[in-house]
Amino acid sequence: RTLDAAGRYVLPGVIDSHVHFRTPGLTHKETWYHGSRAAAAGGVTTVIDMPNTEPPLHSLELAYAKAEMISGQSLVDYRFHFGVREDTVDVLRDLTPRVATSVKVFMTGHHTAPSVIRDPAVLDRIFAVAAERDLRLVLHAEDDGVFSLLDTHRPGPDSYDAYEPHRPRSGGIVAVAKVIDLVRRHGTAAHVLHVSSAEESDLLSAARAAGLPVTYETTPHHLSFTASDTRRLGARIRLSPAIREERDQECLWRAVVSEQVTTLGSDHAPHTPQEKARPAPDAPPGLPGVQELLTAVFTGLVRRFPDVPLDDHMMLLSRLCAARPAALFGLDERKGALTEGRDADFVVFDPSANWLMSSREAHTKNTWSAYEGWTFTGRVDITVRRGAVIWDSHGFGDPDGQWLDARPLGLETARPATV
Ligand code: NCD
Ligand code: ZN
Ligand code: ZN
Repeated sequence: RTLDAAGRYVLPGVIDSHVHFRTPGLTHKETWYHGSRAAAAGGVTTVIDMPNTEPPLHSLELAYAKAEMISGQSLVDYRFHFGVREDTVDVLRDLTPRVATSVKVFMTGHHTAPSVIRDPAVLDRIFAVAAERDLRLVLHAEDDGVFSLLDTHRPGPDSYDAYEPHRPRSGGIVAVAKVIDLVRRHGTAAHVLHVSSAEESDLLSAARAAGLPVTYETTPHHLSFTASDTRRLGARIRLSPAIREERDQECLWRAVVSEQVTTLGSDHAPHTPQEKARPAPDAPPGLPGVQELLTAVFTGLVRRFPDVPLDDHMMLLSRLCAARPAALFGLDERKGALTEGRDADFVVFDPSANWLMSSREAHTKNTWSAYEGWTFTGRVDITVRRGAVIWDSHGFGDPDGQWLDARPLGLETARPATV
C-alpha cells in the first residue's frame, strides 16, 4: 500500500515517556485499549507507562503479569517505568533492561500516588542503587511540607492555590534542589518530570550546564494553560504539579525552544468526570493529554514563534518527542528516528490544518479534553507503527502493539551531553 504525504510532514512516531494508562486496577479512569487509541490518534507510537496503578508496579512478577494483561489491547508499543516504595528498594537490584531501565520516584503523594518516599535516608539509597545498576530515575519532585516567603500567592478563584493550597511553588523548588544535590553526590542519571515553574527550570538548566547527568521534562498543559484559566476550567486543570503563572509559562517555552528541556511528555492522567466534579480539594489532579501532545505543542510553537520556519519547529518536535526520549530510556536502537533499519514508526502531519478540538474528537475512555473549544493548528493524518497504519481517516488499526525490550543504559546515555 502506498501512502500519500504530499504537502505534509513525515515525523518519527512520538514516544510519550509519561502516560498513566491505569492498568491494573484503575480501569474506570482509563483502559489500555482506549489510552492507546488516543495515543495513535495523536501520532504516538510508543508509550512508557507510570507505575502508580492498583497495585503499583513494585515487583517483577507484576511487570510480567501487566504485560500479559496489555497483550492484544494496545495499538502502540510500550514500556514501563518501575515503581518504588520505602520498603521495596532492594527489588531495584533485580531489575533488568527487559523489565525497565527507569524508576519513578514520588517525592510527594496525592490521590493516585500513595507510594511516597519521604525518608531522606531511603532517597539516598534509591539514588545509590540506581547509579550502581545504571537505572535512570524519573522524579515527581515536589515537597508538600515546605512553605516559604516565596509563596506570596493568596488563594483566589483564579489561582492554583484554590486547588493546591497545601502544595505551593516553593515545594517544587525545594524538591528539585534536593534532586540536584542527590545527583551531585551519587552521579545518578535523573530526569525531573512535569517541571512547572521558572525557578525549577532555571535550577535544572544550571545543573545541566554544570555537567550533572540531570535532564527534565515539561508538559503540553503547563505550556498551554495558566492559573488564570482556572476560573473557566476549574478542577479540569487541577494538576500535580499545579498550573502556574504566565511568567512560568514563558520561561518554560524559552526552555523548550532552547532545548534545555530534554523531553515533552503528556502526563496523560485521566480521571472520571464524576471524580473531577468533586469540590476543590477532593478532585484528583490529572487530565488526559496523550492525544493532544503533538498538536498542542505545535499550535503553541506556531503562535508564539511565527517567524521560525516550520521545518525548524518540526525538527525540534522530532527531537523532544522522539529522539531524546528514545535515547534516555534505551530505545534508540529501534525507535526515535526515521533511519533505515529501525522500526517504521512515523506520522504524516498536516501543518496547515486548523480545526476545532472537542470532546467528540477525544478517544480516551472518559471522552473529554481540557482543550475543548481550542482551534488547533496541525493535525495528525496518518500514524504508522512498525509498518502498520494504526490511525488514518478510516479509523484505527489493530491492537497488536508489543512490549519492547530496551538496551542497557550505561553511563554514556546517562550523560546529557550525548542526548
Ligand atoms: C497523576 C495521576 O493522576 O496519576 N496526576 C497528575 O496530576 N500528574 C500522577 C502524577 O504524575 O503525579
Ligand atoms: Zn507525577
Ligand atoms: Zn504523571
